[in-house]
Amino acid sequence: MAPKKLYIKTYGCQMNVYDSERMAEAMGGEGYETTARPEDADMILLNTCHIREKAAEKVYSELGRYKGLKANKPDLKIGVAGCVAQAEGAEIMRRQPMVDLVVGPQSYHRLPDLLSRTHNGAKALDTDFPEEDKFDHLKARPKAKRGPTAFLTVQEGCDKFCAFCVVPYTRGAEVSRPADRVLTEARDLVERGVREITLLGQNVNAYHGHEGGLAGLIRALAEIDGLARIRFTTSHPNDMDDALIAAHGDCDKLMPYLHLPVQAGSDKILKRMNRSHTAEDYLRLIERLRATRPDLHLSGDFIVGFPEETEEDFQATMDLIAAVEYGSAFSFKYSERPGTPAAERPQVPEDEKDDRLQRLQALLTTQQRRLQDAMVGRDVHVMFEKPGRMPGQMVGKSEYLHAVHVESDAFSPGDIARIRIVSSGPNSLKGVVAPR
Ligand code: SAH
Ligand code: SF4
Ligand code: F3S
Repeated sequence: MAPKKLYIKTYGCQMNVYDSERMAEAMGGEGYETTARPEDADMILLNTCHIREKAAEKVYSELGRYKGLKANKPDLKIGVAGCVAQAEGAEIMRRQPMVDLVVGPQSYHRLPDLLSRTHNGAKALDTDFPEEDKFDHLKARPKAKRGPTAFLTVQEGCDKFCAFCVVPYTRGAEVSRPADRVLTEARDLVERGVREITLLGQNVNAYHGHEGGLAGLIRALAEIDGLARIRFTTSHPNDMDDALIAAHGDCDKLMPYLHLPVQAGSDKILKRMNRSHTAEDYLRLIERLRATRPDLHLSGDFIVGFPEETEEDFQATMDLIAAVEYGSAFSFKYSERPGTPAAERPQVPEDEKDDRLQRLQALLTTQQRRLQDAMVGRDVHVMFEKPGRMPGQMVGKSEYLHAVHVESDAFSPGDIARIRIVSSGPNSLKGVVAPR
């Protein structure tokens, strides 16, 4: 019998990317192969994000597009996974009756079982936060070769309850995976060709599954032969401990790039956001990190138009950005999320949010460009990932996560080489093999 086909569409953060891989593998055990074309699929799975209103609405418009497919192919199964599944549960099936199953981010190891319960139009729903560890119940990862970079989830959930954020509700309480499982999975990835691992967690630096926390885990991973690079994301400023700061100074495999969201620069707003640190605390932390690793590139997340944010508060965010100099950043207009405390507060008008976002992004783009342009003439180490769009070109990432194009046929994915940067474009750098 020909294998059945699974189409997965992933929204949201890197943790969803990782979960999609694991769900595809779980379904692989049931005889499903993945396809890039929904029209070929026997099962469509949307792995969704609930972080902002737009993200959640995308799911319903995407489901609308599958109506015709389901009409032509009544056996087609449609599933919704991820954070919208967790947040809205059975409401999804009420709004879109063609959805067969809904599965939350902590219970997707039960996906094959849920699917088997959807015969004859029956619906299946599982948004539990089960006692058992889903990773223990997922099939061992297949041994097939893979590309040089991989995500590896080590920590899930969040106990921080920032006033704007749904993650503590959709992903549950903070849990760390035991270090021995993480190390086994990392070794396995390396055997399959991976050379760079990005450790993932909603609050990855709160990891406590290894002695010495995340720094301890990073040092243990650094012992793995063949693993060349380690990154981690996303960190909370309050969980950046001394050991992790020190690791940035003396662990060669840990890359000099750190995503450290601050959200805002006004202490009044930070307090109302329940971030439990001040702007000054954050700036001091950055100073310590830079004292340890002077070339560290920083990245951040910002929210503009949080309830009751005044122009003065917004200026404090602009001042903080000016003081830090970010290598890259993500910025968003505040989006009201049902059930979160901030949604109950007086809102900033939409046009004001638009205006602030524009000004903030202009500043961030200028900084980003300045840091990128400053790479010209410098040597970086590029790990190549894939051929570029132009023939004879390879693209990879520098240690600072800049995309670098090199015209050369001497490299394969996974190779690392010293490259001299010769020019800087809008989104990437160009380089040549550095002379010895
Ligand atoms: N755990 C991570 C990120 C979580 S979500 C952390 O703590 O940094 C990613 C980003 O989305 C957040 O950093 C924040 O900037 C943004 N975000 C979260 N909720 C939001 C909301 N209601 N409106 C707008 N942006 C939001
Ligand atoms: Fe959301 Fe705050 Fe937790 Fe990050 S730390 S996931 S922003 S509640
Ligand atoms: Fe979105 Fe859930 Fe990630 S809400 S950002 S997919 S944790």
